[in-house]
Amino acid sequence: MKTLVVYYSRKGYTEDLALARAREENADFLALETIENTAGYEGFLNCMKFCLAGKSMTLFPYETDVSAYDKVILCTPVWCGDVSAPMKAFLRKERHHIRNAEYILVHFMPASVVAVADKMDQILRLKRDKLTQVHCVCGHMLKEETGA
Ligand SMILES: Cc1cc2nc3c(=O)[nH]c(=O)nc-3n(C[C@H](O)[C@H](O)[C@H](O)COP(=O)(O)O)c2cc1C
Repeated sequence: MKTLVVYYSRKGYTEDLALARAREENADFLALETIENTAGYEGFLNCMKFCLAGKSMTLFPYETDVSAYDKVILCTPVWCGDVSAPMKAFLRKERHHIRNAEYILVHFMPASVVAVADKMDQILRLKRDKLTQVHCVCGHMLKEETGA
């Protein structure tokens, strides 16, 4: 079983979780990067602009052949109650190449983010194998819930 961990992380919190998971699974990993400005306060406002409009962000090219993997673990922060704009771009681009998916969703607000996982299922047109919701406040992992 060949597993790929794919992540987007603006502040590094999702990255820590994604890389730990990749080590556990002995999986390859792919860090998504966007050409859009996401740094600092201006970057934050730019991210808000994209997520409020429901738009994806343009990604830098990557060489990974996603179709070569049996399972993909997708790790993303939640933005505006939705998938982050760079991860949305990846899902839309690769939806025909992902057969089995698991999600790790990192969020600041204490509420459930199952609805975000449902949106990812809709884009990929599959039912996820597993969802891990991580409530993270400024790098402190307050609660982790794993389920369907
Ligand atoms: C543009 C933007 C929108 C966000 N919207 C939400 C939100 O709707 N709900 C939430 O719980 N957290 C929201 N957050 C907070 C991030 O999900 C949270 O800080 C996460 O830990 C960031 O992960 P990262 O360090 O991997 O970038 C938002 C962050 C940004 C930058």
